[in-house]
Amino acid sequence: MDKVVEISALTKAYTSGHEQILVLEGLDFHINKGEFVSIVGPSGSGKSTFLNIVGLLDDVYSGEVRLFGRKLEDLDEAQKAVLRLRNIGFVFQFDSLLPEFTVLENIEMPARVLGEDGPGKGLELLARFGLEEIAHKFPMEISGGEKQRSAMLRALRNGPALLIADEPTGNLDRHNSGVILDDLRRAAGLGSAVLMVTHNEEAARRADRVLHMQGGKLNAV
Ligand SMILES: Nc1ncnc2c1ncn2[C@@H]1O[C@H](COP(=O)(O)OP(=O)(O)OP(=O)(O)O)[C@@H](O)[C@H]1O
Ligand SMILES: [Mg+2]
Repeated sequence: MDKVVEISALTKAYTSGHEQILVLEGLDFHINKGEFVSIVGPSGSGKSTFLNIVGLLDDVYSGEVRLFGRKLEDLDEAQKAVLRLRNIGFVFQFDSLLPEFTVLENIEMPARVLGEDGPGKGLELLARFGLEEIAHKFPMEISGGEKQRSAMLRALRNGPALLIADEPTGNLDRHNSGVILDDLRRAAGLGSAVLMVTHNEEAARRADRVLHMQGGKLNAV
């Protein structure tokens, strides 16, 4: 199996005034190519903290983190930025589409940053997910569910090896949550490793594996 992320003994503390708050404590984790893993756990247990480290948004921690077989400590900031742009897609609870661009233009944005945009790939993604009719609409002209799905396609635009979703259904009704979960499953089918944090037990169970964030560690449920 291709390991996309491999983590051992990850420990992370925040300093607040004179106090140290230990959030992650000797955590081990892995996720393979094409696998859909969900993480549940109480508010404040460290789920977003964990995703930030895996997504290269935070590098203050101890332990070993390997992404795509490469040890993060060995990479400089520029290498990490390229890795993030090419190999990692992010979806958050609130979509962050740019209002002055169409859906298609929003989806093309991560490719544009790399100088690799062109409507073909974005249109292909929209068609594959059954959304071609909203390609040329602006964010204010589509529904909340469609916005979230568009943000997800933007995250998939560069064909990321890893898709990170932090409460992607947190702002959606049951129907649209189901649609997003189908999309995440499809993304895994296309080869991405999908890592989702959710407060919704039903959503969590749609994954191949459910992990519980507890006591600074991820335990199998
Ligand atoms: N930048 C920061 N500085 C100091 N403490 C922080 C910081 N970010 C998070 N924390 C603390 O770390 C702990 C874990 O926060 P985190 O955001 O990872 O939780 P979470 O599991 O994602 O919670 P939620 O389900 O509410 O999103 C909390 O106690 C939080 O207050
Ligand atoms: Mg969080």
